[in-house]
Amino acid sequence: TMSLHSYVVQAFQDRFGQPPAFVARAPGRVNLIGEHTDYNDGFVLPMAIDRGIWIALRPRSGPVVQIHSLDLDSTASFALDSMRHESAGWVEYLQGVAWALQEAGHSLSGWEGVMAGNVPRGAGLSSSAALELATARAFQAVSGFPWDPPAMALLGQKAESQWVGVNCGIMDQMISAAGEADHALLIDCRSLATTSVPLPADAAVVVLDTATRRGLVDSAYNERRAQCEAAAAYFGVPALRDVTGERFAAKAGRLDDVTYRRARHVISENARTLAAAEAMRAGDAVELGRLMDDSHVSLRDDFEVSGPALNHMVECAWEEPSCYGARMTGAGFAGCAVALVEAASVETFVARVAARYTARTDRTPAVYLCRASAGASTVHEVG
Ligand code: GLA
Repeated sequence: TMSLHSYVVQAFQDRFGQPPAFVARAPGRVNLIGEHTDYNDGFVLPMAIDRGIWIALRPRSGPVVQIHSLDLDSTASFALDSMRHESAGWVEYLQGVAWALQEAGHSLSGWEGVMAGNVPRGAGLSSSAALELATARAFQAVSGFPWDPPAMALLGQKAESQWVGVNCGIMDQMISAAGEADHALLIDCRSLATTSVPLPADAAVVVLDTATRRGLVDSAYNERRAQCEAAAAYFGVPALRDVTGERFAAKAGRLDDVTYRRARHVISENARTLAAAEAMRAGDAVELGRLMDDSHVSLRDDFEVSGPALNHMVECAWEEPSCYGARMTGAGFAGCAVALVEAASVETFVARVAARYTARTDRTPAVYLCRASAGASTVHEVG
């Protein structure tokens, strides 16, 4: 099959009768560990995946962006000097990025192009962050401002929270902007410092898509954020990141049961994430897998953001002898889990886990190997 890079180049050629000037690309992500910690100023350990969004484009005169989505067979355009919230849903992500870039003082040129992607939407693999960062790359290619991954990640997050209206943390945009091939990134979500950590040589990362999609999770996500803020206020600190395990043990006694469990998840998950980065540096897949399992239990029982399909899938993975560890990944409720698997046994693992999940749920999942890929990039095609 043709790569998506070649696909968008060919589609651009068909549409415009010329090759594109640039191809901008940004990846989706899978988070190995560190869930619901980013908006608590904590630690996350995601990797960018070999799936993403590609945009083939050329500059055009005048302050207009025109973009054709090959996946949706839909064309949209907007004017950079008069943006309004009135176009089709997917264009809001592009407009939001243009808005955030301009708010940050960048002067933007117009462009036209075609885009395509292979990150399933709503599956918890950050298709929206990939679209935001690919769009930022497209603007950077024609407008020529400097590319600073954390700054671009923050603008993508601003686009999503303030233009699109989804109140997310910084993890997805950071890893889409700054990912590294063959590595996960330990991200300090307070300082935005990143440390790349290699994947254990004998282990592979498998995405387990439950074939369920999240519905009304925004309200649950916002509720979790509010509970975490209430817990931080109880401890008298800016964010749960600032509460050590000792302080929690000493002071948490007067918290109500729900807030207590929410805080316990975040505080223990931050510790697990730092330990997971250490395990990766030591090449210890067994320890990394054990931490992933603990993370799932904590998300399921304390933070309560898993769901029946995700729990079934993780249990199906846990039953395989070649599985080092497995957990739900992303915001939760539906979508994907992630497993760390012995590299030599991936094919067997994939086949057996998919069959077992279907037997238990009557759903056909998508189970596939993922490689850690680089963050958002631009290829200069012609001229
Ligand atoms: C979503 C958000 C992220 C993060 C995760 C949970 O993916 O976009 O910022 O909060 O949920 O870890």
